[in-house]
Amino acid sequence: MKRIHDDPSGAGRAVSVRGLVKHYGETKALDGVDLDVREGTVMGVLGPNGAGKTTLVRILSTLITPDAGRATVAGYDVMGQPRQLRRVIGLTGQYASVDEKLPGWENLYLIGRLLDLSRKEARSRADELLERFSLTEAARRPAGTYSGGMRRRLDLAASMIGRPAVLFLDEPTTGLDPRTRNEVWDEVQRMVGDGVTVLLTTQYMEEAEQLATELTVVDRGKVIAGGGIEELKAKVGGRTLRVRPADPLHLRPLAAFLDELGITGLASTTVDAERGAVLVPILSDEQLTAVVGAVTARGITLASITTELPSLDEVFLSLTGHRASAPQDATPADTREEAAV
Ligand SMILES: Nc1ncnc2c1ncn2[C@@H]1O[C@H](COP(=O)(O)OP(=O)(O)O)[C@@H](O)[C@H]1O
Ligand SMILES: [Mg+2]
Repeated sequence: MKRIHDDPSGAGRAVSVRGLVKHYGETKALDGVDLDVREGTVMGVLGPNGAGKTTLVRILSTLITPDAGRATVAGYDVMGQPRQLRRVIGLTGQYASVDEKLPGWENLYLIGRLLDLSRKEARSRADELLERFSLTEAARRPAGTYSGGMRRRLDLAASMIGRPAVLFLDEPTTGLDPRTRNEVWDEVQRMVGDGVTVLLTTQYMEEAEQLATELTVVDRGKVIAGGGIEELKAKVGGRTLRVRPADPLHLRPLAAFLDELGITGLASTTVDAERGAVLVPILSDEQLTAVVGAVTARGITLASITTELPSLDEVFLSLTGHRASAPQDATPADTREEAAV
């Protein structure tokens, strides 16, 4: 693992972005973005199509230059020290970047050679990574014959060849089926376990929740919210109390009772008959206490009572006033319906 270069201004920060601006004609792809990623953490950059995620990743990996602002990665300036910077990062783009005609092994070997590894080192690194990403069996087959999931794993393996300190994953699971997506998540979690700092862009709330420690929500080139995932969810909106009576026959009477209770500002309940619970949206700890007190006073025995935070989808809706739009290409079937609202 490469060490993060000493940065006098950014102790412990693997990525630091200030006032980043990038225009394409009239389009403000990035409109003054600030962002920090602490070493050893996973930053999720969540936003709909066209939010500016790829533009951000391209600037941070020195593929394009910003119009204004500054950014450092592993202590290196994207404008002033691009060569040094490239040596300590890995990048997996939104679209597969491997050569389809070449076998998986060959792809990795060549990248190793491009990164100045000796023949011997490049060979052993290719072997090791194919093994690690469960591609050994397919090592000699052209990458063009791989399934979507195998291709994505080969992409991840390719980005790990140079033992990066900071890894950029641009929508690593867009277009993958749910099972393959889980495999990619597992791999990303393993890489994080090895100490890599990750900046991951995604359109999927679930993905951010699975992988990220912190979240930056972007929309139309601007950061609209940021913070720890739980913190962010708590900040936007209330919580839902899930109250499950011990006796299923008490379900409907309990819901009616809570609706009639007259706790100030308490929203109306819904019944989750399948799981035998009444859902009560609450806005404060006082309301939680009032609900529990009233139910107890009424003599209804409860099997469980839990609080749930709002989903990231709801978070996005309340932050932007609109839902995160669906990716235009190859949305995994299971998210198509909810994302298309
Ligand atoms: N090379 C380019 N030329 C013109 N417009 C671009 C270019 N790259 C991105 N854009 C525009 O900039 C905005 C942000 O794009 P992008 O960073 O790709 O968003 P995301 O990755 O979040 O979907 C979009 O409106 C997109 O159309
Ligand atoms: Mg993109």
